[in-house]
Parts: sequence; structure tokens; C-alpha cells
Amino acid sequence: MDHTPPGRFKTAEDFRTRWRELDPDGELDLDLDVSNGDPLAAPLAIATPGGGTRTIGNRFAVHPMEGWDAGEDGTPSEHTLRRWRRFGESGAKLVWGGEAYAVQPDGRANPNQLHLNPDPAADNAANLRSLLGTLTTAHAEHHGTTDDLVVGLQLTHSGRFSRPHGTRMSPRIAELNPVLAEKYGLDASVHILSDGDLREISEHMVQAACLAADVGFDFVDVKCCHGYLLHELLGAHTRPGDYGGSFENRTRLFRDTVTAIRSERPDLMIGCRVSITDTYPMFRRDGDAIGFPKDVETHLPWRHQFGVNPLDPTDSDFTEPKAFLELCRDLGVFMANLTVGSPYYCPHLQRPAAYPPSDGYLPPRDPLCEVQRHLKIVRTVRAMVPDLPLVGSGWSYLQEWLPAVARHEVRSNMVDMVGLGRSMLSYPTLPADIVAGRDLDRKHLCRTFSDCTTAPRNGMISGCYPLDEHYKAMPQAVELKVLRKEASKA
Ligand SMILES: Cc1cc2nc3c(=O)[nH]c(=O)nc-3n(C[C@H](O)[C@H](O)[C@H](O)COP(=O)(O)O)c2cc1C
Repeated sequence: MDHTPPGRFKTAEDFRTRWRELDPDGELDLDLDVSNGDPLAAPLAIATPGGGTRTIGNRFAVHPMEGWDAGEDGTPSEHTLRRWRRFGESGAKLVWGGEAYAVQPDGRANPNQLHLNPDPAADNAANLRSLLGTLTTAHAEHHGTTDDLVVGLQLTHSGRFSRPHGTRMSPRIAELNPVLAEKYGLDASVHILSDGDLREISEHMVQAACLAADVGFDFVDVKCCHGYLLHELLGAHTRPGDYGGSFENRTRLFRDTVTAIRSERPDLMIGCRVSITDTYPMFRRDGDAIGFPKDVETHLPWRHQFGVNPLDPTDSDFTEPKAFLELCRDLGVFMANLTVGSPYYCPHLQRPAAYPPSDGYLPPRDPLCEVQRHLKIVRTVRAMVPDLPLVGSGWSYLQEWLPAVARHEVRSNMVDMVGLGRSMLSYPTLPADIVAGRDLDRKHLCRTFSDCTTAPRNGMISGCYPLDEHYKAMPQAVELKVLRKEASKA
């Protein structure tokens, strides 16, 4: 490993020096006295559709985290319920979606994804009720009240990354993208969704949102991130018809879906998790296995993806992201959960890690730079659209230093909520420990081995195999160690 991972810095001063070396403007609250109140424990008031307010009890959000472990009919398994129980126990007062819920079977990212099952024999409401009930009961048992807990369901169609029948991809794409076609071996026979297909998907999103509202979820997330369908549509510059080309067309499906949900369930809050900027797809370089934007110079100007500079698609252009977030605000979206890129074609950026997933590559620079990129992106957005509440992503790599960086960003009003992904699998009570002022349980801090990503890429259920006893004991843990070694080799 060429980069010192956060856990190896011996002193806070050593970490601060490195943090500032990478970004001279990088700040963190290593010395903040929190004995009279921790910014991360402060409640946040949010507007509700009826003109009222709701309180979120602290500044931690659990990001959506799939486990690839439901039954093929969409029934949660013991693993799924355990994960939702642990999300409830975490002490985080915002649960952003639990995990991606596919609105139709062909839009699942794996055969074992939770989904709206059209089979009349399926009890979709009972499935959602058991997940929500498990989470809220656990929260009440551990944290007393659920009055300041806000829970949503993330609605998705996996689009290009649909895999409803096993590890084989069954892409349903929004537009042809020559570089992703090369990366994933897609030919001209690939299924391009028609405008009619898109309208049907939107109807299923509305159906799923109504079900979520009826079961008791506080909000739904109309998911526009990570390369999945609604995210791909935002960047479908070359798609003809009603849903491609102009900004107005590319945002039509999102707009219509949000408007229809609002009209069907006026009291349901609506959020949006969005990859607010992106990067040209990365490839594993022969020889040193480091990720690089292969042949980018031969594809300029780049006519795909959302929020990238067409003349240098490894860099951001925030013109359209600003317009999109203003649209969200004007549609009454209560909060945007900002993420970046995709775990498929730029995992080093989407989830900064010391070890790559098995289909990834070695990080091109210190992963702390990618954490800083997430922070800077949120700051940029905050300055551009100051009246939209924001959740930030990509914090888990910070490990021991997460509270200090998060305190600084929240205290200086750069972000409202600190969203945690992988840390919630290895150490779900991290938010409760921080808010209560307890020492961190360093043995359970996520060390970003990426087994949670490698497992599903190889047909196994996801979880924290290195640190969570429940998964450590499974035979797959051994196989994953081998895969990790292979992926980290040049
Ligand atoms: C195993 C796994 C499953 C995930 N599932 C989802 C998901 O269902 N929906 C989503 O928006 N993001 C998903 N993510 C991304 C995380 O929510 C989060 O953005 C990412 O892990 C980076 O945050 P972190 O640094 O705190 O881990 C998943 C990540 C992992 C590792």
C-alpha cells in the first residue's frame, strides 16, 4: 500500500499535517471542546410538505446499504432484518432509505434485492412493514424515542447495472455510451429502454412510494445516483426523444415522478440521492493495476454523464448540478443526499478505500484526496444552493478522524447531515458513541477492505466479513481474503 491509511497516523498532529499537505485549506476540529455540546448531536429542523416542521435528532444519517440477501420474491431474510435492526440501533436520527428497493423485478441489481413484486401472491406491504418495524423497535429500545427519527425508503431501477438473474448483467440502458460499452462488453443488441418503458418505470416508482407512505415511511428517495437508471438519464445527452438531449428532457422522468408522488401522497416527504458530479470511467492499467481514464483524449468533447466538463470529463462542471438542485428545491424535495460517480466505473471516488473491490483497480492517489473531493463538492453545492438541506457521503475512510472532520463541516454549516455507509456495517453504533461522547471502539472501525463490495460482485451476500462476527464465521470470508489479495496485486 503506497498511501498511509488514516488508522496508521500515530498522533492527531501527524494526521493534521497530512490532511493539510493534501489540501492547504483543509480544516478539522481536532481540539474542539464538545463538553458543552457537540455540533454532531445538535437537532436539525426540516420543512414538511404541509408547511410544518420535523426534527431530526442529530446530524448522523445511515446511508442506504444493500445486502443482496432477500428472497428472490423480495422477502427480507434474517440477514436483511439484522441489518435494518442495527441501523435502528445506530443512534443515527436519519435513515436514508435503508437500502435500494427496486420498483420492478427487471430493475434489480441482483436476484436478491428487495423489490416491489408484481405477483399477486406477494405481500409487499408486509415485507416493508417488517423492515420498518424492526428498525423503529430497535431504535426505541436503545434510544428511547422515535419522535426525532426520520426514515425513508430508496426507490430504484438499476438500469445499466441490472442483474436480476445472477451475476450476469441484463442491462436496461438509457443511452449508448461507447466507453461503458467497451468496459462491460456490450454490443448493439443491448436493450435501450423506450420512452414507454420509462413511463412504466415511473408509474412503478409512484406505486412503490404510495406503498411506503401507507406502511409508515416518512419519505421516499427518488434515487438518481451511482450509474443506475435515473442517474444515467440525467447525463443522457445523446438520447433522442422525450427523455434525452436537453436538460429539460433529461430531468423529465425525475420531475414527473416527483410530481406524481406528490399528487398521490401529499404528506409524504421526498428526498433525492444524486451523484451530483461524475468522472470518466476508470480502467485497471496493465502493469501497475492503477486506475486510469483510458483513451479519454480520443473521446473529446465527451457527450455523456452528468456534471462533468465535456473537454475534461475527469473534472466537474457544476452548471447543470446547480440547476438540478434548484429544481429539487422547487419541487419541494426536503433534502438532497450528495454522492459522486458510481461504484462500478469509479469506485475509488464513490467509496474511497485502502483496498479495491475485486473488479476495481488500485487508487490513483491517496484516498484521502477523494474524501476531500467529496467535502469540496458539498461545499460548492452549499454555496450555489444554500436553501436546500444536504447530506454528505464518503466519510468512512476517515476512520479515527471522522468525528473531527465531520464536526468542522457541520459546525461551519458546510453540510447538514453526515451520511455513513460502510462504517454502519462494521460499527453500527458509531453515531451513538460519538453523540454520547464515548471513546471510539477502534477494533470495529471500517478499514475499507472492500469485501462488502467484492462479495456481491462474486455472487455472495454483502456484509462486513473482516469485522462483523456474523459474517466473519461464514466460509465466504476465506474466499474473500483471496479475492482481496488478487485485486490489490499489480
Ligand atoms: C455494500 C454496499 C451497498 C451499498 N448499497 C447502496 C444502496 O443500496 N444505495 C445507495 O444509494 N448507495 C449504496 N451504497 C453506497 C453507500 O451508501 C455510500 O455512498 C458509500 O459506501 C460511501 O460512503 P462511506 O464512505 O460512508 O462508505 C452501498 C455501498 C456498499 C459498500
